[in-house]
Amino acid sequence: MLGVAKVFGSGAQAIELFKDLDLVIRKGERIAIVGASGAGKSTLLHMIGTLEKPTTGKVLYGGRDIFLSQEKDLARFRNRHIGFVFQFHYLLPEFSALENVMMPGLIAGLPRGEIQSQSLALLDRLGLSHRLQHRVGELSGGEQQRVAVARALLLRPSLFLADEPSGNLDSRTGRTLHELLVTLNEELGLTMVIVTHNMELASMMHRTLRLVDGQLREE
Ligand SMILES: Nc1ncnc2c1ncn2[C@@H]1O[C@H](COP(=O)(O)OP(=O)(O)O)[C@@H](O)[C@H]1O
Ligand SMILES: [Mg+2]
Repeated sequence: MLGVAKVFGSGAQAIELFKDLDLVIRKGERIAIVGASGAGKSTLLHMIGTLEKPTTGKVLYGGRDIFLSQEKDLARFRNRHIGFVFQFHYLLPEFSALENVMMPGLIAGLPRGEIQSQSLALLDRLGLSHRLQHRVGELSGGEQQRVAVARALLLRPSLFLADEPSGNLDSRTGRTLHELLVTLNEELGLTMVIVTHNMELASMMHRTLRLVDGQLREE
């Protein structure tokens, strides 16, 4: 991203989060973003993930200004290339764990059998084989978080973005998730940008960037 500024609101109420921010993310990189609460980490991740438009500046993918795309092309780009795990997971409460993971594949119109077997494999890797048919509301916070990770990975995105993915996990489950992320990065070349307060996870990344006063500093 190049020369990005983001302002919420206007006049006396305006919140200026970034001013002329540059960030280059290379293919295959694992990046942690850390910083105080309210520093703008979630907003930054949403801009990288094309969910939030900068007030000024550009978000470039392969040199192309992604926000020049039409809304429908942008949605398609996101569905195909970006896997997002939100701070609040936004799973569908009426559906089972398995159905939630399968959902992006069903929306993309892929063959059901194929989606199901890939979803089962992902849930198994995340230690959720015993929770497939449970509804989201019947799962613990940590289990819901892992379902959200599996859902984000289903369509094999090239960019994985996660907002505090291990925030609700106990240390053992958290470690399993961290190791899985590193494995996915190394095996599939999955580029990842992860907002985290977890220093163990940050230490497993190639780079850690700290967001302070609207600027990113390499740690
Ligand atoms: N849609 C929005 N409208 C107005 N203010 C917002 C919006 N989103 C975030 N903010 C404000 O921007 C600041 C940074 O928010 P956020 O990116 O969530 O920070 P972090 O994830 O680092 O805690 C906060 O003060 C928040 O209230
Ligand atoms: Mg946040």
